[in-house]
Amino acid sequence: MTIGQEIFQVNKAGHPSLSRHHQDLINRYMRLRSIPWLVLCDVGPSLEELLALPNPADTEFPSLAEVSSALKEKRRPYMPAMNEHVAYMRYLERQQPPFSAMETPALTSFQDWLQPPLQPLADNLESATYEVFEGDSVKYDQYEKAITQAMVEWKELEKPTAGAPASHPYCRELVVTVAGAGRGPLVTRALRAAKTANTPIQIWALEKNQDAYVYLLRKNKLEWGNKVTVVKTDMRGWEGPRLQGYEDKIGKVDILITELLGSFGDNELSPECLDGIQHHLIRPHGISIPHSYTAHLSPISTPRLYADISSRVVADPNAFETPWVVRLFAIDYVAQKAPGHPRFQQAWEFAHPVITLRADEFALKHGKKARYVTGGGGSMAGASGSNEHNARHCHLTFVCPTRGVIHGLAGFFESVLYATQHKKSDKEPVEISILPDQIDRKSKDMVSWFPIFFPLKVGCAPLPPHCQGGCVLTLARNRSTSPKTQNSRSACGGRRTTPRCGTSGWWRSMPGLDPRRGSRLGRQICTAAARSPV
Ligand SMILES: C[S@@+](CC[C@H](N)C(=O)[O-])C[C@H]1O[C@@H](n2cnc3c(N)ncnc32)[C@H](O)[C@@H]1O
Repeated sequence: MTIGQEIFQVNKAGHPSLSRHHQDLINRYMRLRSIPWLVLCDVGPSLEELLALPNPADTEFPSLAEVSSALKEKRRPYMPAMNEHVAYMRYLERQQPPFSAMETPALTSFQDWLQPPLQPLADNLESATYEVFEGDSVKYDQYEKAITQAMVEWKELEKPTAGAPASHPYCRELVVTVAGAGRGPLVTRALRAAKTANTPIQIWALEKNQDAYVYLLRKNKLEWGNKVTVVKTDMRGWEGPRLQGYEDKIGKVDILITELLGSFGDNELSPECLDGIQHHLIRPHGISIPHSYTAHLSPISTPRLYADISSRVVADPNAFETPWVVRLFAIDYVAQKAPGHPRFQQAWEFAHPVITLRADEFALKHGKKARYVTGGGGSMAGASGSNEHNARHCHLTFVCPTRGVIHGLAGFFESVLYATQHKKSDKEPVEISILPDQIDRKSKDMVSWFPIFFPLKVGCAPLPPHCQGGCVLTLARNRSTSPKTQNSRSACGGRRTTPRCGTSGWWRSMPGLDPRRGSRLGRQICTAAARSPV
């Protein structure tokens, strides 16, 4: 990056300095994955000054006599004064604000690096991947806050509990289940929340990954004082809790805690997994944490990612038909905020527990003994197995004031972990978010998820609004005829350009089918790539 002498100003003390805008620009460039060289032009020394300098050969190769006399006279070797423009740039370097959580060199190295999304339902994650999850204290702090609030309000609202005998329905002890417990950080947080809320609990930890299960058993012995009932199972096939003192029958769960969220909210199949376990929740007041999650989109222009994906097509014909997890950096948001048309628009929402008892519906239709078994990760015990209620559809209009090429859609999610159940309370919900305009307010410095990128095979160029252009996007999350697949497809059309352009077939690489495995967070790719070629 070349900086000419003419952009420097003279400050009050008469020294060269840069305007605030130029300082900000340089600070931004200094946070790139590849930091540019800065070359100052025309800031001296002039030819006359260079000629006036002592001959370098004289100073670099002095005779022994000269060295001896310089030592006696305590003379230091000749050092030309630092150019004041260079000195100012050094000063700017020292004044840079410290790195934020997202700007550490480890995370910076993931700028614009494409990774296939994680598939924790189809795959068993590695211990190192869990370790990466566990490094993000912001996520677990928010979960702990949500669990504590749920427990405190349960008491305040005097809701009946699952473990209570019929004679004392308001017993204080809660039944808590952490489903998809991994190596147990949410179990630790749930135990801590119970202590803070002064609520006795019976707690279950479910995990389908045998390696993580062994880790949970060990943690139960060493850290949790055997207070946790650890079960190795797919949560959709769990029989339910056998409560202390009532081991002969299956009980219900008061609070169900899960973290099965992907960068686009539902793309790690949280809705489908929760469908298979939610019939264990006590009705009608059982709580799911998270309570809900939403997926959000914005069209982006990103020649760099487009070129990267295009270059992969030879080796990977599905490269354009894959959603990629990527720390978006060299991008332009094509849409602008306008009344009724935000830059980031919600595609759809999932809320839990799903209101209709799908198990009951299924039993009504097929009889009580029928049990739907999927071909993949486990039986959908208690759920109908049909997935119509998890289909979603959106039709969004973005205002695109300047002409440009849309190379794809940037996807994000937000989740309400817990919202107060007090009717007249204005308490803020406990949330996590990766939306660029919300993350700092809702879960600052949370690094567990990078955005998702849905590439468009054919770039789409919207016209500016005075030509009645803009971008109309239709996206659907389809149920599949195969029990294993989830489908998504989009059409993105600028009016007055082509009616439909840039459709991609992401559906081909949805969970359970894609042979490639990956991550939702930058660092995880190291472990994923080390495990299997991406
Ligand atoms: C994203 S990890 C979260 C792990 C842990 N709760 C945390 O926050 O660090 C999701 C976990 O859920 C597990 N999982 C996914 N689907 C599951 C299912 N259907 N039944 C049981 N466990 C499941 C995965 O094996 C993985 O350990």
